Amino acid sequence: MRQLRLAIIGFGTVGRWLAGAVHRRRAWLEGECGVAVSVVSVATRRDGFLHRDAGLEIPAVLDLVAARRPLAAYPGAQRWETALDGLAKTECDVLAEASNTNPRDPEPALSHLRHALGRGTHVITSSKGACASAALELAALARQHGVQFRMESTVMSGTPILSTLREGLAGTRVLGMRGILNGTANHILTLMAKGLDYVTALADAQAQGYAEPDPTDDVEGHDVVAKVRILAAAAFGHALPCDQVIRRGITDITSEAVQQAAHDGCRIKLVASIQPRPPSDRTGAAPMLLEARVEPLALPLTDPLACVDGVMNALTVQTDTVDEVTIIGPGAGPAQAGQGIFADLVAVARVG
Ligand SMILES: NC(=O)c1ccc[n+]([C@@H]2O[C@H](COP(=O)([O-])OP(=O)(O)OC[C@H]3O[C@@H](n4cnc5c(N)ncnc54)[C@H](OP(=O)(O)O)[C@@H]3O)[C@@H](O)[C@H]2O)c1
Repeated sequence: MRQLRLAIIGFGTVGRWLAGAVHRRRAWLEGECGVAVSVVSVATRRDGFLHRDAGLEIPAVLDLVAARRPLAAYPGAQRWETALDGLAKTECDVLAEASNTNPRDPEPALSHLRHALGRGTHVITSSKGACASAALELAALARQHGVQFRMESTVMSGTPILSTLREGLAGTRVLGMRGILNGTANHILTLMAKGLDYVTALADAQAQGYAEPDPTDDVEGHDVVAKVRILAAAAFGHALPCDQVIRRGITDITSEAVQQAAHDGCRIKLVASIQPRPPSDRTGAAPMLLEARVEPLALPLTDPLACVDGVMNALTVQTDTVDEVTIIGPGAGPAQAGQGIFADLVAVARVG
């Protein structure tokens, strides 16, 4: 049986779900992929980097976290103050990076990802900020070192859009894409379509745990901009700078505008779109241009995106072979984000 040593940086919602899934699905991983996965390292900001060559007992680590005890209380493990120190001093085959980056800031995840790939370690990550600013660089680094770099849960969480682009739609030319990529904003707009005003709808999203106490990244479109940049890299091989994505959030959407849209047979949605534009010269030497936008739009009810409600996400991809493909599914949540990164782990495990 092949052994696969997994290090998990960021042991919050996503990291803990991944560890639990590795434990619960141990027999399936052995049967399906022919690998025995052991979690050799776990890191958090507060507790530093915990490592044991022979593998950590996952239930024991999860129990410590549940009891709010420090990871240092785990017996017989080595510990370093920071994840980078620990990564440099220990060995693993796969790094799962799930620290809590904000979508506008690539660190601390980017340093962890560069370090691991540079050492020839496979990387799977849910960190949007790092992937938004450096997906192509990280993919090139992975190729250079003969390892995989996967980031499924960064866009639409466990709803498999990136693997669909990479594997299912491999070889197609993507002609454009548009979608609903933020469940919090979509939940608020769905409630506004039912008659609530923005402030009440936001309060509901916060009460249900969909919106952070500071909802800026969700309602001002920054989170969607990060996802647009990741999609631009994945589908078009294009490193899209943040300031080239036209961004408008939903904070100035009034109840009157929502009711007017309903009267006109439309629904207002926060829509992300990426459209390739022909280069400005005719020689073909100029790089392809992408027009990328995140903005509220009134969509007619005949548009499939108009009926995507609540915290659901959706993306329609136009291709030169299978025309339009639309994927709809949940875009956040522990199991959803955990499933995305678990699928990445399985992809690595299958290839070895
Ligand atoms: N939750 C979702 O539905 C979802 C969906 C898709 C993508 N994501 C992305 O996945 C990532 C993780 O999300 P989450 O919900 O699991 O976040 P979370 O619950 O807030 O957990 C974040 C973890 O990262 C750790 N961390 C922060 N800085 C660190 C550092 N420098 N070194 C080591 N560990 C560090 C934190 O440690 P402390 O607790 O000690 O601070 C915590 O254990 C984020 O980038 C998020 O955007 C989440």
